[in-house]
Amino acid sequence: MTGGAAPITGRRPGGPVLELRAAGRVHGEGPRRVRALAAVDLAVASGEFVAVMGPSGSGKSTLLHLAGGLDAPSEGEVLVEGAPLASMRPSTLAALRRRSVGYVFQEFNLLPGLTAAENVAFPLELDGWGLRQAGAAARSVLAECGIADLADRRPEDMSGGQAQRVAIARALVGPRRLLLADEPTGALDSKTGSTILELLRDRADRGAAVVMVTHEARFAAWADRTVYLRDGRIAGSTGPSDPAALLGTVDAGAP
Ligand SMILES: Nc1ncnc2c1ncn2[C@@H]1O[C@H](COP(=O)(O)OP(=O)(O)O)[C@@H](O)[C@H]1O
Ligand SMILES: [Mg+2]
Repeated sequence: MTGGAAPITGRRPGGPVLELRAAGRVHGEGPRRVRALAAVDLAVASGEFVAVMGPSGSGKSTLLHLAGGLDAPSEGEVLVEGAPLASMRPSTLAALRRRSVGYVFQEFNLLPGLTAAENVAFPLELDGWGLRQAGAAARSVLAECGIADLADRRPEDMSGGQAQRVAIARALVGPRRLLLADEPTGALDSKTGSTILELLRDRADRGAAVVMVTHEARFAAWADRTVYLRDGRIAGSTGPSDPAALLGTVDAGAP
């Protein structure tokens, strides 16, 4: 589907694209204090696709927010391409988030009134790409996602599954090195879900680092590694062969 596409080249081919070092996150104070994440060590290399599983409330979304610089850890540190996010100037962090990181979150956050192609081109235009070049890149990634026919449609005229696919195209557009996806298959039927997994796998194979939260072992099976979270801590991890086996070894609560 994406044969012949250029590799996504890295600035630091040796080191991990994403690194969490003893990262923790506490919300609130006193009786309202909630620990969302504790002492998480995780490194994701270029070319690697990591699935994150765990019960509801186990810290999966918090981990992705920290990884993408959308939230800061209370303890420990987060590095993207070797650079600690905490010591970046706000403008540098904003540029990194815009340019190098692709996010697919549960809320699609498409801009109403803009077509699918305009929504997908928008982050590139913010980053200084010309209209024509950004539009061409947007249409090409929409085609990769199998939704070229939605290019001129606005979010208000799409189904939930269509909007989700446009949001995924927007996350993939441009030379992104780190892709973060929080249950990207949530609103999709299983055939479309597999298409999205194929796309994420392809990006990893071309050099991106991919971290995806999922509740489904059959989707985690596309990853190189599955990390299982419980109560904000890494409770186990496994290779690609059998995430279901891991789920049997830790008491998997209902998602
Ligand atoms: N902004 C916040 N304020 C207070 N508690 C939060 C906040 N965000 C997350 N939490 C809490 O942190 C824990 C982990 O949340 P989250 O990372 O969303 O888990 P998951 O994505 O695995 O369901 C939960 O107990 C949640 O209620
Ligand atoms: Mg979540």
